[in-house]
Amino acid sequence: AKQWRGLLHEYADRLNISEATPIITLGEGGTPLIEAKTLSARTGARVFVKYEGMNPTGSFKDRGMTMAISKAVEHGAKAVICASTGNTSASAAAYATHAGITAAVLVPEGKIAMGKLSQAVAHNAQLLQVQGNFDDCLDIARELSANYPVHLVNSVNPDRIEGQKTAAFEIVEVLEDAPDFHFLPVGNAGNYSAYFKGYSEELERGATTKLPRMFGFQAAGSAPFVLGHPVKNPETIASAIRIGNPASWDLAINAHKVSDGYFGAIEDAGILAAQRILSAEVGIFVEPASAISVAGLLERADAGMIPAGSVVVLTVTGHGLKDPQWALRLPDGTDVVPTVVPVDVPEIADVLGLVKGGSH
Ligand code: F0G
Repeated sequence: AKQWRGLLHEYADRLNISEATPIITLGEGGTPLIEAKTLSARTGARVFVKYEGMNPTGSFKDRGMTMAISKAVEHGAKAVICASTGNTSASAAAYATHAGITAAVLVPEGKIAMGKLSQAVAHNAQLLQVQGNFDDCLDIARELSANYPVHLVNSVNPDRIEGQKTAAFEIVEVLEDAPDFHFLPVGNAGNYSAYFKGYSEELERGATTKLPRMFGFQAAGSAPFVLGHPVKNPETIASAIRIGNPASWDLAINAHKVSDGYFGAIEDAGILAAQRILSAEVGIFVEPASAISVAGLLERADAGMIPAGSVVVLTVTGHGLKDPQWALRLPDGTDVVPTVVPVDVPEIADVLGLVKGGSH
């Protein structure tokens, strides 16, 4: 069987690339759309989860990065730069290294998950921890790229959005139409805007009958779209979306308006509860920021806003192994300590509640 060749090959005719574009790929995209029966049962909708943690570096950022790095190399760039809450830096580092160019990444000091920090280091990025938050890092990256020979690969670069829109293509291919609702986490709102662009193009070419209503969720301590203005000191345990001044503000406001969308906020406790539901009931492990899609659906369903039988897609943006510590923390704040047993079969059987000779 032929293996999936990555987005730029698979969707060459629907992306802004040409013969002159060198294709820098790690095989991103083609991620599973998983029907989540337990979430359907909880909500009365038909719920599908787009598992973006299955991308090469473990997040959806790889869709935008294959495009952004390919275009950067086409334009002769020898170095790229990004600000990041972790996933963009991991992805930029991997794709830049694969292309044989340098990646400089600016992250907020002490505020990115260990897995993501490890990735940037492993892929040989020039990693700097900035004594500020993500919004400060983005301001600096923009200024550096405007005045120095370094190419910006944050989602303010339209190539990123272009690559990320392909997730909507994949969903339409499976469902044979757009869903009724699409839920996803919102930080800079690049991805929210990218899905809207992808779905809009599908409608335009007659592959779908409608646009999904775009439902974006932010952490309560970091919810500029819900408040209607930037947040100066954003806070949340979902470090990926700890962003107070979203870069794609205007694109997202338009997508929200045109799709009859919604912006909601979820407290950190609700994010962690949803992460647990997804891992323990569905079998999908995601990082906290990604679980906000699930929390958002449960909140809207409870509020009676999701008609029975609606087709709902939840994008879960990053793998749980990126930031695994939260899974080991119980709601009361204590840590899970797995039971220790001696090398003793009867004792272990007893602890597991197994009865000798019982049937399988
Ligand atoms: N989920 C995850 C896991 C993310 O890493 C991000 C953004 C988002 C959701 C939000 O996407 O910004 O397009 O609205 N992470 C960026 C980063 C900011 O630097 O990795 P968005």
